[in-house]
Amino acid sequence: MKNGVVKKLTAVILLASLCLSGCEKKEEEKTSIKVGVTVYDSHDTFISELMGDFNELVTKKAYESGVAISVEVMNAGWNQSTQNSNVEDMIDNGCDILCVNLVDRTAPTAIIDIARQKNVPIIFFNREPVEGDLDRWDHLYYVGTDARQSGAMQGEIAAEAFTKHPEYDRNGNGEIEYVMIEGESGHQDAIVRTEVSISKLADSGFKVKKLQSAIGNWLRPQAFTKMEQIIAEYGDEIELVMANNDDMALGAIDAYNSAKIPLEKRPVIIGIDGTDAGVVAVKNKEMYGTVFNDTKGQAEAMVDLIYAESVLGNTSGIDFSEDRVIRVPHSKIVGE
Ligand code: BGC
Repeated sequence: MKNGVVKKLTAVILLASLCLSGCEKKEEEKTSIKVGVTVYDSHDTFISELMGDFNELVTKKAYESGVAISVEVMNAGWNQSTQNSNVEDMIDNGCDILCVNLVDRTAPTAIIDIARQKNVPIIFFNREPVEGDLDRWDHLYYVGTDARQSGAMQGEIAAEAFTKHPEYDRNGNGEIEYVMIEGESGHQDAIVRTEVSISKLADSGFKVKKLQSAIGNWLRPQAFTKMEQIIAEYGDEIELVMANNDDMALGAIDAYNSAKIPLEKRPVIIGIDGTDAGVVAVKNKEMYGTVFNDTKGQAEAMVDLIYAESVLGNTSGIDFSEDRVIRVPHSKIVGE
């Protein structure tokens, strides 16, 4: 009787260890993975350029590693509950890992809870969860940039423009009269860029005076409409336009074009992102400069993290900027 129990127990332990080593082996030998991506708005210029780079780099990684990587992308269309459903659908569709560009960066709870329950890691990107949210599970990551750095570089570009060209202070009053076009309220990049860009310019020894600020929600048409009104109100008093991203700087340029104000009578206009259209505007001298928000660098960090987490099951080879966070550096792009 006693012997029988021991035999049974041994058999159970053997089976368990066989299963354990079997499962481990299966993990190590993963030859295919499925990645689910949900973005806040697939029409956002920066996000669509980032996704273009991401798709290219996924193909390259799959080719180099021999691992089949399939990607499913969903658009949340500015709606957090749509995004929560995107996440549930992608988990049901068998995704091994998710990349989430939050609609509302203060509301990741439902997503984190379901992913954790189903053991599906998440890489948040571009829209940063607020402090503490990443601590809720150790398979949550963030890939983005340092918003302060982008704001500081934009301020430096402005300081450089007015140092090299004192005549850009059109009324010669020793003060830079500026307009700020802000991204979506609540977005870490909008909040920080708005504040840091101007304080950097002021710290460089320039007196600054805000004429007007307007929210353009990252969008070119909204910035265009707001800027049309601001030009009508302030005309050539405006010496500097700082936009939180290139699309809104382009909207401001559209407004100057539509008002038929020639290039030499326009203020200094500076954006952030270095999108394809933004760089063309810098080359054409319509935009004085921009700050490169490295889409390729961020896409590469996401792909490396996906591979480490889902194929290797080990992220020790990843160079994190902070705990489970990767911040890709910016650089300046100036026409001159
Ligand atoms: C970019 C914007 C973009 C936004 C979307 C920012 O980092 O600079 O162009 O619209 O992210 O979340």
